[in-house]
Amino acid sequence: MNHAHNENEPAPSRRRPLMIGLVGLLALMAAGCSGAGPQTALNPEGPIGRTIDDLWELVFILATIVFVIVQVALFYTIVRYRARKDDDGEPVQVHGNTRLEITWTIIPVVILAAIAYPTVKGIFDVRAIPQGEDVLQVQVTGHQWWWEFEYVDLEDETGRTLVTANELYIPEDTEVNLTMTSADVIHSFWVPVLAGKRDVVPNRVSNLTLIADDPTPPDAPHPGQCAEYCGLAHADMRFKVHVRSQVDFDAWVEDQLAPAQLPTEGAAAAGYAAFGTCVACHNATVSGPDGIEDIGPVRTIEVDGVTFTSSLAPDLTHFGGRATFGSGTFENNREHLAQWLANPADLKPMRPELNDIEAGRILGMPNFNLSDDDINNLIALLEGWD
Ligand code: CUA
Repeated sequence: MNHAHNENEPAPSRRRPLMIGLVGLLALMAAGCSGAGPQTALNPEGPIGRTIDDLWELVFILATIVFVIVQVALFYTIVRYRARKDDDGEPVQVHGNTRLEITWTIIPVVILAAIAYPTVKGIFDVRAIPQGEDVLQVQVTGHQWWWEFEYVDLEDETGRTLVTANELYIPEDTEVNLTMTSADVIHSFWVPVLAGKRDVVPNRVSNLTLIADDPTPPDAPHPGQCAEYCGLAHADMRFKVHVRSQVDFDAWVEDQLAPAQLPTEGAAAAGYAAFGTCVACHNATVSGPDGIEDIGPVRTIEVDGVTFTSSLAPDLTHFGGRATFGSGTFENNREHLAQWLANPADLKPMRPELNDIEAGRILGMPNFNLSDDDINNLIALLEGWD
């Protein structure tokens, strides 16, 4: 303690860190208002997201009103009833005030009731599983560290269902029922602008409804993210939700249900020869001389009577048409793909050394020490499969 100073006025050296701290805190709080974060639940793009956001706003407004009233009353009391020079002894002592106690019991009851009704109604609205023929049914399998989507009602002439990875396409203004499970550990499916989080649990089935207002621009799908810590690449277990008009969605479905063409010449054909390494884990449905066939493994798991497609790695039949790869993390272009094929774990943290194909445990793509030629040929093959 420095007794040389007036007690009411802290020394400048003590006030400065306080000011710096205060300014820093205000700057941090202001940064929270920037609105630049795409993964925000505060700019909902669908009715379910809006239900959640409206609830948040209601609670925020009520809490702000209570905060302001309490602070004003507190400061008024501190100033109005402060100790004065001519005060002598203690103030008048009172014990209890029935009217006051009833008032401050009733007010919180009214406030909590005003919050509880829309909260409980909102929970039921958001959790309701949509029924009917118009509902788009998508099964979701969470994997360390990517997402698999199967459109169980959409199949080609051979009976193969539409299976894709990390990029979910849905039509606008349509109820989408996600039926979800996990192939390994607990994940959580979260599209902040469309709905809340829902855990994706091994040996369990969980459901989540998505409804999106408007089509998304091709280069700006809604971002999604695994929201339950699931190991090394949890942060990179992302995905995209592309919203399309019904017409565009139907065109996408038709495109996705078509098999990839077997390349017959050039770099793509050479790439197909190198692709033999990939099909230990990745499937692709190709149209060759023997008709339509799956050249990689197609695996399923059964959970609570529901059969989920549960592959070892993302289906690559239409890889070239995806905006991203590496679980929604990297823009799908030549440069990134070349980096990935040269050593996947350089781009995304993975543990391929723990892979056990027999046991169905895959923790990432190994480095196959591919030559530059192989890499270029594989890129030509994959880019052609759009
Ligand atoms: Cu999956 Cu975190």
